[in-house]
Amino acid sequence: QRPGLLPTPPMGFNDWSRFECAINQSVFTETADAMVSKGLLTAGYNRINIDDCWMADARTEEGKLTWNETLFPNGLPWLGEYLQDRGFHFGIYEDAGNETCGGYPGSYGYEEVDAHTFASWGIDYLKVDGCHVTPSTEDEYHKRYAAWHKAFSKMSDPLIFSQSAPAYFSLWLTGSDNLTDWFTVMDWVPYNGELARHSSDILVYVGVEGLSGWESVMQNYNYNTQVARYQVPGYFNDPDFLIADNPELSLDEKRSQFALWASFSAPLIISAWIPSLPDEVVSYLKNSDLIEIDQDPLAQQATLVSRDDSFDVLTRSLANGDRVVTVLNRGNSTDDISISALRLGLLNTKRTYSAKNLWTGEFIRFQGSLEIRGLASHATAVFRINLSGPSSFGVSPTG
Ligand code: GLA
Repeated sequence: QRPGLLPTPPMGFNDWSRFECAINQSVFTETADAMVSKGLLTAGYNRINIDDCWMADARTEEGKLTWNETLFPNGLPWLGEYLQDRGFHFGIYEDAGNETCGGYPGSYGYEEVDAHTFASWGIDYLKVDGCHVTPSTEDEYHKRYAAWHKAFSKMSDPLIFSQSAPAYFSLWLTGSDNLTDWFTVMDWVPYNGELARHSSDILVYVGVEGLSGWESVMQNYNYNTQVARYQVPGYFNDPDFLIADNPELSLDEKRSQFALWASFSAPLIISAWIPSLPDEVVSYLKNSDLIEIDQDPLAQQATLVSRDDSFDVLTRSLANGDRVVTVLNRGNSTDDISISALRLGLLNTKRTYSAKNLWTGEFIRFQGSLEIRGLASHATAVFRINLSGPSSFGVSPTG
């Protein structure tokens, strides 16, 4: 990663999971307008990224990329200006191989030319996918993504670089649970760029046979828990989009995805039709306590401290010394859990700790153990434990 380029994870919109290739100019202008009117821009969602299928079928005679004129009649520089005038950054998609996953011209051998083309269109964020890289070896992926890193290194204003390379070595695409190459790729992506898609595509709106919406979220969640140690301010693990209007997720499941991604300091990139998002969804996406955790300058990723038949318990620290406790009920029924303070790394069992429930805004106090009652199936509770102030409530830390 390049220090300072992306200090906290990106927040915004990407069309892919909701629209796949059914995009056009107005998808993006109407999304931008709705993000402004629904207060999402003000809440921090300030990026609009175009995914695959935006291109013309071939490069120009000079070897440059150009957009599909039917889908984008006013052109991408015009769209970039439209977005920037309203306060958004503009991002786009390409591929490290000979073709994109959708079959459009890839960037292999054109990395420098394309980086400059994108910059000239007002783009400052590039997702580089990994379809059609041959041979599909770890070494070849490393070379292709290093070529992009080099192209950006020569620019005074490099683009934010999102790399899909690790996903191509995950169980999802190799069919093998030998993750040696996956970890080898994970070893170099934080050096090369600011983000890496390490796992499966999150469920697209229309759905994929065999995988429910919740299973899709859990699959990427589980991958993310394995790579926490790579994340630092400036480099973020990307478990893919927030599928905020996917009909295969219940409201509790959507809120869980958001709470877990925020606990990870993961990118909060919404793939949904924002003009029609119901208030109950807009409202959880704007939860400022959870966004604050996501955007915490330490950028720690919450890690698992325990897993039983029903509950995952995760914790992380925040820059001001506070501790986050995230509790996911993976089980199929509403349930209670008691979590000992020791398990949360709170070693003073005599101290009364104060915690804010980040869904309700209520403060609770606990000593010895944190009790959570009636957590619904597939729901996630998040508490922020205040450790930054003086030892709370006059309880002295005597042993
Ligand atoms: C791959 C990526 C997706 C999306 C599509 C576009 O599957 O993982 O996120 O970019 O390609 O074709």
